[in-house]
Amino acid sequence: LFTRPWVFIRGVPAMKFLPPEGPPEIALAGRSNVGKSSLINALVSRKGLARTSNTPGRTQELNYFVPDGFSGQDADLPPLALVDMPGYGYAQAPKEHVDQWTKLVFDYLKGRVTLKRVYVLIDSRHGIKANDEDVLSLLDKAAVSYQIVLTKTDKIKAAGVPRLIEDTVQKIRKRPAAFPAVLATSSEKNQGLDELRAAIIQCARG
Ligand code: GTP
Ligand code: MG
Repeated sequence: LFTRPWVFIRGVPAMKFLPPEGPPEIALAGRSNVGKSSLINALVSRKGLARTSNTPGRTQELNYFVPDGFSGQDADLPPLALVDMPGYGYAQAPKEHVDQWTKLVFDYLKGRVTLKRVYVLIDSRHGIKANDEDVLSLLDKAAVSYQIVLTKTDKIKAAGVPRLIEDTVQKIRKRPAAFPAVLATSSEKNQGLDELRAAIIQCARG
C-alpha cells in the first residue's frame, strides 16, 4: 500500500463537509507543529504532499489522503484513508479560527463512525502536555482506539529514546483506549516509519 503513490482527495473545513462514510479512516492528531503533516509525507515518501511549515497552524482543515488508483465508486473504494488534522494548542492565527479548528478536531475525533484509529503525535522533546491529556481523555471516553507516536527523535540523544518510550508507556498504562505500545519516529531521518506503516495496515484490516 505504501509503495503506491498517494494523493490528496479532500479538505474538510467543517463537520458538514465530511465525505460519506466509506473506507476506514486513520487520523494523525497532535499539538500544532508536532510534525503530523511531515509524518504523512514521510510515510508515503512524498515530500510536499501534505503542506508543512515552521509556523504552527499550517494545517487548517481535515485533509484526506488515499492510495492512488481507486475510483472511489461503489466496490472500488480505497482500503483506507489517512487524515491529516489541524493541530491543537498554540497557533499563529486569529483566535476565532483556532477555536473553529479545535472544535472541528474534537468533534471529528469523538463522532466519526469510520474512524478506526488515531495516532496521537507527541514531540520527543516535550512529552505529553495537558492539552494532549485532554485529547487522550476524550478518546478514552468516546472509546476510539489510539496509539502514541513520538516525533522528531532526531532532536534528542539516541540513547534517551528507549527511556522516553518506557516513560510514555507508563503514563498511558491505565488509559482504556490506548494501544499499549508507543512508537518512536523521525520524519527527517526516516526512522520508525516501517513499524508505523505496518501498524496502520494492521488496523485498516482489523
Ligand atoms: P500544524 O499543521 O501547524 O499543526 O503542524 P504539523 O504538526 O503538521 O507539523 P509540520 O509537519 O508542519 O512540521 C512542523 C515543523 O517541524 C516543520 O518545520 C518540520 O520541518 C519540522 N519537523 C517535522 N518532523 C520533523 C522531524 O522528524 N525532525 C525534525 N528535526 N523536524 C521535523
Ligand atoms: Mg500540519
